[in-house]
Amino acid sequence: MKRALLAGVAILVMLPAAAQDAKKGEALALQQCAACHGKDFLTPIDPTYPKLAGQYQDYLEKVLRDYKTGARNNAIMNGIAKPLTRDDIRNVSAYLAALPGPLSNQKR
Ligand code: HEC
Repeated sequence: MKRALLAGVAILVMLPAAAQDAKKGEALALQQCAACHGKDFLTPIDPTYPKLAGQYQDYLEKVLRDYKTGARNNAIMNGIAKPLTRDDIRNVSAYLAALPGPLSNQKR
């Protein structure tokens, strides 16, 4: 019984990860984000704009949710995050997190 419950929990925990789609995230990122953050997401058009490549996925998701709700305030990013769906946020974060960059400590 306990084991079945644990298996059920494990499946539930794995579902959101399976639902993300970095390919869709790539399309969205190149259409809506690259103009400011740079095509490689390491060379933004202004040095005050953050690098995103290789940033942790959970950080990216949280920040984008916070921009969307207004919990984090920035005139530019609030407007950009507002129309993003939960799936958009997951997908684009999965794509950006997988890119090589100095923010990541993963060996590639
Ligand atoms: C018009 C320019 C512009 C576009 C387009 C844009 N951004 Fe941004 N982005 C910014 C600026 C400026 C900041 C810094 C805002 C701040 O200080 O909070 C930022 C910050 C961020 C951050 C916070 C990074 C950190 O280290 O905290 C994330 C994540 C982000 N953008 C993701 C995106 C995504 C995803 C898209 C496309 C859906 C996008 N941005 C499109 C200008 C832009």
